[in-house]
Amino acid sequence: MNNEPGTRIGVVGCGYWGSKHVRVLHSVPSVDSVVMIDEMGDRLRALARSYPADLCFPSVAEALPHVDGLVIATPPTSHVDIALQAIDAGKNVLVEKPLATTVSGAHRLIEASKAAGVILMAGHTFEYNPAVWKLRDLVRSRELGQLYYLDSARLNLGLYQRDVNVIFDLAPHDVSIINYVLGEHPLAVQAWASHHAHPAFEDVAYLRLFYADETLSANIHVSWLDPSKVRRVIAVGSKKMAIYDDIAEERIRVLDKGISVPVEAASLTQPPMSYRYGDIVAPFVAPDEPLMVQDQHFAECVRTGATPLTNGKSGLAVVEVLAAAQASLRVGRPVLIEEVAGELTKA
Ligand SMILES: NC(=O)c1ccc[n+]([C@@H]2O[C@H](COP(=O)([O-])OP(=O)(O)OC[C@H]3O[C@@H](n4cnc5c(N)ncnc54)[C@H](O)[C@@H]3O)[C@@H](O)[C@H]2O)c1
Repeated sequence: MNNEPGTRIGVVGCGYWGSKHVRVLHSVPSVDSVVMIDEMGDRLRALARSYPADLCFPSVAEALPHVDGLVIATPPTSHVDIALQAIDAGKNVLVEKPLATTVSGAHRLIEASKAAGVILMAGHTFEYNPAVWKLRDLVRSRELGQLYYLDSARLNLGLYQRDVNVIFDLAPHDVSIINYVLGEHPLAVQAWASHHAHPAFEDVAYLRLFYADETLSANIHVSWLDPSKVRRVIAVGSKKMAIYDDIAEERIRVLDKGISVPVEAASLTQPPMSYRYGDIVAPFVAPDEPLMVQDQHFAECVRTGATPLTNGKSGLAVVEVLAAAQASLRVGRPVLIEEVAGELTKA
């Protein structure tokens, strides 16, 4: 029997997403106690009915002495202040996406966690998703041939947020997936967005990511104002194409289709291209729940002191792309990542 004391993890923000963290953390063997924190008493009372043995607190300050690590699942604009409070108390933190809503905020978290010697992890859940691992393998092994582009769509009716637009709410997922699959970060971002039903926050947005390799691009469409729920990434290569649909039964499909031989340009009597239609294969994808894999990894990092796979740096890389997209909306042109990275010196 293992008598080692287990890890104590707090969850601040027990709303829609935080309550899912509370559920999965109860199944992580190395987690000894889950501490629930929310300033809304009714949220805590509702959860306490399912987990009567857990400690509950209305504030982070009261909970900190009882935790080794804190999951921060409050609205995005509160992430930095709450994470700094926990880091200053010597606690490890897992911050939900986006890590911060400004580049300078993300830098402050990285520096503070380094100074305090604690773990800073970004809640990039999709990087713990076996379907995304499979997509990455397909791209990195060049099974698709030379990758032409990635196209990501995350659409639904809602859920509108109170403190950020659709870019900061939904696109962190797409950007983290794209960064992870490609293993590189974009050089620049161009964005178009518009607000329709919301008076201030953009509810529909399109982002284009540019890379050092000019033959490669990635596109992101995010929307809170769409009739259908879509969670899809398409990878188009010179040999094959792949579709990752997170809400389909077969989450990854590899399509052996594409352009076979370009017809000679001079031949005006022939179609300009010929097409190849081959098999469609749905490879096995492990059914593991990504949030469970992610929270298990956080608990393990807290226990061992290991650096998380999605550390502060990967959180910052996503925030930089979001900030560049936001700046692109203002200036109406592509914005280099290095232009927003310079925001640090102005902060
Ligand atoms: N990784 C994912 O797939 C995923 C999915 C959904 C949401 N999220 C993220 O989770 C976070 C929360 O989103 P949500 O939809 O659950 O929001 P929500 O509004 O449903 O819940 C937020 C909760 O935080 C509480 N809260 C706010 N400030 C607090 C404070 N200072 N102290 C204590 N409690 C406080 C509120 O009372 C509320 O209960 C966001 O950062 C969001 O981006 C991530």
